[in-house]
Amino acid sequence: METRGNFGSKLGVILATAGSAVGLGNIWRFPYMAGHNGGAAFILIYLGCIFLLGIPGMVSEFIIGRHSSSNAARAYRNLSGGKPWAVVGYMGVFTSMIILGFYAVVAGWCLQYLYASVAGQLGGDSAFVQTYFKEFSSHPLRPVFWTVVFILITHGVVVNGVRNGIERASKLLMPTLFVLLVVIVVASCLLPGASQGIEFLLKPDFGKVDQSVLLEALGQAFFSLSLGTACLCTYASYFSRQTNLARSAIQIALIDTLIAILAGLMIFPAAFSVGVSPDSGPSLIFITLPNVFNRAFASMPLVGYIISILFYALLALAALTSTISMHEIGTAFFYEELHINRKRGAWIETAVCVIIGIFCSLSCGAVDRLVFFGRSFLDCCDYLTAQILLPLGAFLTCIFLGWFVPRKVVLDEFTNWGTLRGTFFHVYLFAVRFVCPLCILSVFLHQFGII
Ligand code: TRP
Repeated sequence: METRGNFGSKLGVILATAGSAVGLGNIWRFPYMAGHNGGAAFILIYLGCIFLLGIPGMVSEFIIGRHSSSNAARAYRNLSGGKPWAVVGYMGVFTSMIILGFYAVVAGWCLQYLYASVAGQLGGDSAFVQTYFKEFSSHPLRPVFWTVVFILITHGVVVNGVRNGIERASKLLMPTLFVLLVVIVVASCLLPGASQGIEFLLKPDFGKVDQSVLLEALGQAFFSLSLGTACLCTYASYFSRQTNLARSAIQIALIDTLIAILAGLMIFPAAFSVGVSPDSGPSLIFITLPNVFNRAFASMPLVGYIISILFYALLALAALTSTISMHEIGTAFFYEELHINRKRGAWIETAVCVIIGIFCSLSCGAVDRLVFFGRSFLDCCDYLTAQILLPLGAFLTCIFLGWFVPRKVVLDEFTNWGTLRGTFFHVYLFAVRFVCPLCILSVFLHQFGII
């Protein structure tokens, strides 16, 4: 058996885990969720979910993962004292495969847009940009091709191991993405009529908050933090004994939230400026952004051209650091549990995800039979995972950690075996025992009309 890798430095830990958290969830999913649910009010609820439920949830996954230094299922099993908690790990592996399947489709769209930017095909008025997206995404071959390419690239990084592949890539990509995002936010906010979009983001209208908003915000928070599928648990199994788990969780949540808000500031001013409806769903960024690049830089087309290329390249790379983390869950699971080598484990994961990805991609207009109850198969996968499986996974993790894992293990991991003060230990324990499970449960019950 090969030895397990480790992250090489503190910065590497933060950036790799933040690389997992920051991705299409922030830049593609967050804006359309916020747009669909009325903007600022949704964002406030979302922030509540991140800080109240997300951070304790992250610390819990970190504790379970680092304690066991092994794949998701074994991590839960090791601490379960003979009870069937490994199911949460299995569920995580299953959920992350579905997410990787549909996520790769959207990441594939980014690759197509990157290609189209380089070839200068995205220039035109907003009607053209809209048609371009529709025609491309419903094509039977092209998006499928890009989906498969994306999963294969992910595979390529993952087989190269933890330190050389994941860590090195994240250290370079994350800061670059941030700088570029700020440049586009400024460009977008300078467009004529942009202030309406800023208002939409900052002025809460609670009238729009209906029953489903709570679960959508909760699901989005967990999706964005990579919580609920044992993804963080798998990454934490590569953390060293010096990593301060609570502090890392807070730092990552802050980075993740900052990028999501920046993405909102990038999309909405532009959407209002060019007259794209903020609730236009998954296509939102693919229709709004080319317009920003065309209009904001109309007098400097070369700058627009370069920024557009850089943006899609970085978006694809941000997606890559996330798909790597999803892929790693299954890879670590298959190779350790089936006692095969890492390469084979990775191939199993890749094969399953390619199949799911192809179905998701075809459901976006190419094959009508893949639409169920008015939702494409891609949307169904998104709904099933973000709004059911992730909250459920996080709920079970909190119950497990709060009530079943020996308190000494939790305290030792939280305080790095007594070397940290652990000031917030009791607050944390109270949150995972009571606050998180009760909040998640009541959001579920509320969604289904029970309370
Ligand atoms: N958090 C990532 C994003 O925002 C997506 C992601 C990576 C994820 N790993 C995950 C989501 C595990 C759920 C579970 O894009």
